[in-house]
Amino acid sequence: MAEDTSIFIGASRKPDDSYQRAEELLLRYGNRHGLITGATGTGKTVSLQVLAEGFSNAGVPVFCADIKGDLSGIAMMGEAKDFLVKRAEQVKLDPYRFQEFPVIFWDLFGEQGHPIRATISEMGPLLMSRLMNLTEAQEGVMNIAFRIADEEGLLLLDLKDLQSLLANIAERADELSARYGNVTKPSVGAIQRTLLVLESQGAANFFGEPALRIADLMRTTRDGRGAVSVLAADKLMMNPRLYATFLLWLMSELFEELPEVGDLDQPKLVFFFDEAHLLFEDAPKVLVDRVEQVVRLIRSKGVGVYFVTQNPLDIPEKVLAQLGNRVQHALRAYTPREQQAVRTAAETFRPNPDFDCATAITQLATGEALVSMLEDKGVPAMVQRTLIRPPSSRLGPITPDERRKIIAESPVAGQYDQAVDRESAFEMLQKKAKDAQDAEAQAQQQNSGGSRWTIPGFDDVLGTSGRRSSNRQTVAEAAIKSVVRSVGSSVGRAIVRGILGSLARGR
Ligand SMILES: Nc1ncnc2c1ncn2[C@@H]1O[C@H](COP(=O)(O)OP(=O)(O)OP(=O)(O)O)[C@@H](O)[C@H]1O
Ligand SMILES: [Mg+2]
Repeated sequence: MAEDTSIFIGASRKPDDSYQRAEELLLRYGNRHGLITGATGTGKTVSLQVLAEGFSNAGVPVFCADIKGDLSGIAMMGEAKDFLVKRAEQVKLDPYRFQEFPVIFWDLFGEQGHPIRATISEMGPLLMSRLMNLTEAQEGVMNIAFRIADEEGLLLLDLKDLQSLLANIAERADELSARYGNVTKPSVGAIQRTLLVLESQGAANFFGEPALRIADLMRTTRDGRGAVSVLAADKLMMNPRLYATFLLWLMSELFEELPEVGDLDQPKLVFFFDEAHLLFEDAPKVLVDRVEQVVRLIRSKGVGVYFVTQNPLDIPEKVLAQLGNRVQHALRAYTPREQQAVRTAAETFRPNPDFDCATAITQLATGEALVSMLEDKGVPAMVQRTLIRPPSSRLGPITPDERRKIIAESPVAGQYDQAVDRESAFEMLQKKAKDAQDAEAQAQQQNSGGSRWTIPGFDDVLGTSGRRSSNRQTVAEAAIKSVVRSVGSSVGRAIVRGILGSLARGR
């Protein structure tokens, strides 16, 4: 097997069901994206595991979400179970070696892996609006909020920063409307309430610092294998919108941060997007368009994106057209929609005269798939009925003890575990409000002659007066300036936002 230029996926079979040949994914086309589809229990997760193993062995780091916890076994050595050994023989995988892979566990909630965080600023107005399912009018207000934050040097790190900014905006609604267009108190209020819901769903953990460094997903081991980052997504799936928004954010971060590299011998990173339908379900058209754009352009950054979903109809056509490497497991064809899906899935393949694609899709066994990978010149190969090879790592979940051990020994242990709450919009606005209050109190005191004694001409020296508060303001101003600097933009220059509205970091 040429593990250095391709990944062995399984063996295709002749019409009489005998062995035909090895089916492989060519690493040089690994960034031309892919698709794994099939009904429940047909073998999608195992196919994902097999591909992830292959990429890791080739030195390509992998990021994947573990929806049911059953992908976590990739961190452990496989075992010679009868049905796996039998499958290995069928596909002529000889020797059938067992391996454990260098896994880094991640978890947005910080329970089953290292916490992953992003700042509100990095998320940007488009994705925040999508996450909160805002109306168009509310999204307009969200855009204005981000603009004000940028202009006034208010750093948006966590949910309370956004909450306090919105409260501040509500207070200044009239003034801001005059400057930016419609900012109504009810629409700000509606956004504030949605934020509370988001918070109650546990999203507060996700927003803040230390934010994920993309470089930590790009690690390799000393023996040249790519890290497999496994995101615990079982709990996350209860908030599908957070799940989808998070993965979109990650994809846009990769897009913004990685340099242009053109076509390489193998990808720089491969990203598996399980339950991919969640990305597109009731997503506004602009978002679908942007996703399509990111998927198209991220290729030249050496990133391969593999969508995993039950039904190919879940993926918009424009995106589907860009997914070159395909593994189609069995689909059922009882309802008209299912029959439509089967036909669509069948039509996307380059036909094989040996069999009828649509019929085959409904007859595939578990762990069997119609496979078409890109071959020479990036052309899709003729579709083949393929038995997928068994994984080298464990099939099924890891135990909590095993997971704890891996987390403790991880290369990022200790880096993300503690949240850091540095000075940002919340603290700055609090300080501003307090300064304003102080100033007012002092003015009142002076007006009402709160201090009975005075030395004419020496007010300033004695007074609890204007001076102190102006000192404080200076401190606050300094903080604003340092914050603006730390955002990576020079003072006074508008902050640049990338393709999905996320912050494009200074390069
Ligand atoms: N390539 C394979 N080799 C050996 N066994 C396999 C293979 N693929 C699938 N199986 C068997 O089928 C079972 C179900 O596969 P898998 O979990 O991948 O399905 P799935 O499509 O991900 O299902 P779901 O939609 O419910 O997540 C596996 O637990 C395993 O026993
Ligand atoms: Mg699965």
